[in-house]
Amino acid sequence: MTTYLVTGGCGFIGSNFILRLLREHRDARVINLDKLTYAGNPDNLREVEQDEGYRFVEGDACDPTLVGELVQQADVIAHFAAESHVDRSLMESGAFITTEVLGTYTLLEAARHNPKLKRFLHVSTDEVYGDVAEGQFSVETDPLRPRSPYAASKAGAEMQVIAYVETYGLPVVVARPGNNVGPRQHLEKFVPLCTTNAMDDRPLPLYGDGRQQRDWLFVEDNIEALDILLHEGEPGEVYNVGAKNHRYNIDVAEAILDLLGKPKSLIRFVEDRAGHDRRYGVDYGKISKLGWSPSHDFEAAIEKTVRWYEENRWWWEAVREGEFKEYYEKQYGQRLADARPYTSGGS
Ligand code: NAD
Ligand code: TYD
Repeated sequence: MTTYLVTGGCGFIGSNFILRLLREHRDARVINLDKLTYAGNPDNLREVEQDEGYRFVEGDACDPTLVGELVQQADVIAHFAAESHVDRSLMESGAFITTEVLGTYTLLEAARHNPKLKRFLHVSTDEVYGDVAEGQFSVETDPLRPRSPYAASKAGAEMQVIAYVETYGLPVVVARPGNNVGPRQHLEKFVPLCTTNAMDDRPLPLYGDGRQQRDWLFVEDNIEALDILLHEGEPGEVYNVGAKNHRYNIDVAEAILDLLGKPKSLIRFVEDRAGHDRRYGVDYGKISKLGWSPSHDFEAAIEKTVRWYEENRWWWEAVREGEFKEYYEKQYGQRLADARPYTSGGS
């Protein structure tokens, strides 16, 4: 029997990860610690709610008493809990610093008092490298140059991790994945936003010229990589997780519209994000040596994602009705009022 303490398990990647653990590891007992912020959605784990091997604890990763108790029960930790949206970090970044830096510190501090702890997987991001020029791919030893408050808070968390590895010999493995797509991602992110807006004939807001690039990693590929790192990653090491599925945002929006049979005229060019990183790109040769490679190219990843949102309207309509309404108005109200229309070939 292995007890996994997963933080942030009600979010997008954490919930997919827990579903995988319970599916693939017969001896897994999972404790999910989640604060249920606006991004935490209990619907994500509805199908395992009653499983004997699953336990949900509502609470804050920054609470030392609660975290101390839970970490004592764990053989391994997978730490996903974070504030995860760049645009929100541009509105108010206090919660990012608290959860990312203080939350990670709280877990590390508890972890060093659990001598039976086998492994601690820290989920970071490729955004800690900052903007990466076209044709370039970051390697794990590259300097960290975070450029958004979100990325800076994630880099701050990583610095705490490295300090605990060096000082106390904690068996932490760090993962730096690229942009995930797939089922259960909150509507605030680009792909779910474009997909659900397109389904209802609402505009698709593209920041700036729409020619920023992301490496689109299917969430199932990512969680497979994280599972391998949790069990086979070298303690103290950092691993990039990417797919080399780079696409311009405009091409992603067009692919979504094509899959849904909707017109390109739904695209709007809106005021850019401040400090917008134009591109991320990682070399994932290091994790490949552990036998992992992504199974989904961009077309497969986007198609599976779009179809999931088509088939699960109940899931995202509930999200759209909640806190998201107010956020949407704040983020897009003026932007869409001032938007430039789509012209074929770009802005
Ligand atoms: P998400 O926003 O969907 O989920 C975050 C979860 O953490 C939510 O369930 C939320 O309730 C919980 N949470 C937030 N603050 C908490 C706190 N103080 N204590 C306990 N729980 C708390 O995020 P996601 O997209 O699933 O990302 C998961 C992790 O992966 C994050 O660390 C993120 O930085 C990282 N990451 C995400 C992506 C991506 O494309 N989504 C890419 C690379 C790395
Ligand atoms: P996002 O999904 O927020 O992820 P991240 O900023 O962490 O990469 O955004 C992905 C890309 O899409 C990014 O270049 C910003 C862009 N974007 C838009 O053009 N319009 C939007 O409404 C959103 C949310 C993102």
